[in-house]
Amino acid sequence: MQTSSKPSSRQNVISERENPHSTSGGYFCVLMTQTGCCLGLAALLYITLTIGTVEILSLFPKTRAYSQQTPPVVTAEVCSKGSKGCTQKDSALRFLLIGDTGGLPIYPYTTLAQGTVRDTMIRLTEQNKVQLVLNVGDNIYFTGVANEFDARFETSFEEVYNHPIFDGIPFFTIAGNHDHFGNVSAQIAYTKYSRKWMYPDYWYKFNYTLSDGTTIDFLMIDTIVLCGNTADVEYGDLWDLLWKGSKVPDGPKDKKMAEKQWDWIAKTLNESRADYLFVGGHYPVFSMSSHGPTQCLVDRLKPLLEQFSVTAYFAGHDHTLQHLEVPTTDRHSHITYIVSGAASRTDRSTKHKNSVPQGSIKFNYPSGWNPFSQLGFSRGALIYVEINKDRAKFDFLKGNGESKYTMSLMSRKRSVKLDGDEEARTIEL
Ligand SMILES: *[C@@H]1O[C@H](CO)[C@@H](O)[C@H](O)[C@H]1NC(C)=O
Ligand SMILES: *[C@@H]1O[C@H](CO)[C@@H](O)[C@H](O)[C@H]1NC(C)=O
Ligand SMILES: *[C@@H]1O[C@H](CO)[C@@H](O)[C@H](O)[C@H]1NC(C)=O
Repeated sequence: MQTSSKPSSRQNVISERENPHSTSGGYFCVLMTQTGCCLGLAALLYITLTIGTVEILSLFPKTRAYSQQTPPVVTAEVCSKGSKGCTQKDSALRFLLIGDTGGLPIYPYTTLAQGTVRDTMIRLTEQNKVQLVLNVGDNIYFTGVANEFDARFETSFEEVYNHPIFDGIPFFTIAGNHDHFGNVSAQIAYTKYSRKWMYPDYWYKFNYTLSDGTTIDFLMIDTIVLCGNTADVEYGDLWDLLWKGSKVPDGPKDKKMAEKQWDWIAKTLNESRADYLFVGGHYPVFSMSSHGPTQCLVDRLKPLLEQFSVTAYFAGHDHTLQHLEVPTTDRHSHITYIVSGAASRTDRSTKHKNSVPQGSIKFNYPSGWNPFSQLGFSRGALIYVEINKDRAKFDFLKGNGESKYTMSLMSRKRSVKLDGDEEARTIEL
């Protein structure tokens, strides 16, 4: 084996700020008990109407031949949409990490949170010259798309992120469990119609090289193919989803396809000599919110992330922002786990805070109480990432752009002391 990490009390987290568990929702809760009942009924009515409308709409054809109106993709630069390997003229790579962007299945097809996060994405892209967006799945709620001409590509994606600043900026995408309730190959096929949607295959790799030679590898993986879905629904609608009920992912639907992907992950991680190596998938390995850890990934992905010294694993699925540092099995190091699944709704649940390794939670947002946040009546949240030869800096942002927490990770190759007494790990690549 060529990759090995020297035992060290590695602290690849360089800085942190703000108390991760601050709650501002306490007395708000008390205030709301009076109106709580009323709001509950309103929510119930809203949900009933939503389901009713979706069911009525499903009686009518779902698609629209809009593709003729979509302008063809023009790729002027090496780094714009369409290229998998890319050389930057810049000495830094800046990207937005978002997840669970899928909007709503009925008018207005998007949520308040999605619009708020989008506005911040535009601002950040203008201010900081963001080069790409990383989207970790659940692209279309609640049951994906029917085919590549599905109108939801327009209403829940193109129209939402319709700003010239995004033209040619790839939104690297993978499927979430909700996308797998519909037609995933249609989402892959849709790549050819969009100026930004970038979803070349179920799983894929892309890389960036900065002007000073720093290399960054990204592996995008399909965790539903690996671990199975959360309900036995295929090409279904909302009714099927409710009728079937949900389960924890209990094994892949197509074992051969899953094994093929596991082989690819091990091989591709092994081959990577990049300064930064990131893996993105929809299901989290570890999460403290509603869904919690994914056992299948704890069993099989975690050992690979450790063996090949991955810089961080990105996931969505739970509608929160989280930063966890989980010790490796040999306890000599730890792996960084990041959740960013709050780009169109948020979840305040801390249901699984005791299902993750003790002391691993560094940050979680949001907390407090909001009965409507899962419907998108909240600000949402996202992460801004900036990478140079020394460090990858993560800024955890509220939907409106307000910074809640920052932390930095070191490159795999460097063994510099970036912050006082913190000891860096050395990796022989
Ligand atoms: C980046 O990807 C391109 C295209 O797949 C490939 O040719 C190139 O070797 C890769 N570069 C690195 C540093 O992995
Ligand atoms: C899925 O979408 C693709 C691309 O539009 C289409 O060719 C295929 O027939 C669809 N599959 C089903 C089962 O509808
Ligand atoms: C990694 O790749 C090398 C060849 O470059 C090979 O000898 C080794 O067995 C691989 N290790 C794993 C765990 O796949």
